[in-house]
Amino acid sequence: MPSLNLETFKSKVDAYQKKLVDESARPHDSKSLEELRNLFLSRKRGLITLLFEELKDLSPEEKPAAGQWINSLKLEVQEKLAALEAKLKAPQRTKKEIDLTLPGERRYWGAPHPVRLFQQEIENIFLSIGFSIEDGPEIETDYYNFEALNFPPHHPARDDWDTLYINDTLLLRTHTSPVQIRVMEKKKPPIRIIIPGKVFRRETPDPTHLPMFFQVEGLVVDEGVTFAHLKGTLEYFLKRLFGDKIKIRFRPSFFPFTEPSAEVDIECLACGGKDAACRLCGGTGWKEILGSGMVDPQVFKNVNIDPEKYSGWAFGMGIDRTAMFAFDIPDMRFFFENDLRFIRQFTLK
Ligand code: DAH
Repeated sequence: MPSLNLETFKSKVDAYQKKLVDESARPHDSKSLEELRNLFLSRKRGLITLLFEELKDLSPEEKPAAGQWINSLKLEVQEKLAALEAKLKAPQRTKKEIDLTLPGERRYWGAPHPVRLFQQEIENIFLSIGFSIEDGPEIETDYYNFEALNFPPHHPARDDWDTLYINDTLLLRTHTSPVQIRVMEKKKPPIRIIIPGKVFRRETPDPTHLPMFFQVEGLVVDEGVTFAHLKGTLEYFLKRLFGDKIKIRFRPSFFPFTEPSAEVDIECLACGGKDAACRLCGGTGWKEILGSGMVDPQVFKNVNIDPEKYSGWAFGMGIDRTAMFAFDIPDMRFFFENDLRFIRQFTLK
């Protein structure tokens, strides 16, 4: 009569399996690993060997299942032992191996690109006075880039924007102003937004021109908005960007989508107007940095906003160009050559 039943046998196999897991979780040296191997696999007293011997006490029907359990436990033991052995053999760094004469491993932190950094500075100023940030497509239609902004087809003012056309109706936006239209089509006043983004023009790269550069557009539309709001807000913005002492002047100008329009100059940071041969301002003492104006009533009509009820002002500023000025960078191409020695030099206050 078999003296062992299948259930007790199974619980024995399970207990050994648990023992295996526990034992292999501890750290081992070659001696303890050998002991572990003997514990399970020793030909005379190994737990696996003993289990095989006990098989004879089971009934013939029980033997196949029990045999399988032992075999799978044996396989697990072999795998665990092999893994522990590999771990033991893996090369380990010891103190002796560190060569103190080698140069250290220098790790660089990533840093924001100077144009991005400057854009963030601009965004933070406007966010702090209640503006929000909008975005629009870089591939535009002629309608948004020109027509809705009050440039009729073939109007000579279009020539001021050297446009890269994709086909008869699509182009790479030449300014961020088309997003004004897109926003006014969707939202009703009050509107208080800035729109930073890439713009494209047919330019040969030189120290002050690139075929791709960044602009930030601003737009305010509400009841009772006047030129005083334009002037006050832009002065506040430029003082926060360049410091309280900066001199600012507004000059009459023309843009098809604003009336009246003004360009804004700030005093030359390089020479303060004292150097007739100044590389930055050409001796004028002033540097033009943005265009602005009161939104033309025709533009409001194009987006179904009543110009009798609402008024607004807008501006557009080159981000890279202004950053060049602020950081005293002589060549716009430096921004996109990706020379890390250049890029890492810039941080803001
Ligand atoms: N879009 C103009 C440009 O690229 C700049 C500009 C001028 C934007 C006057 C405006 C504005 O919003 O009111 O030269």
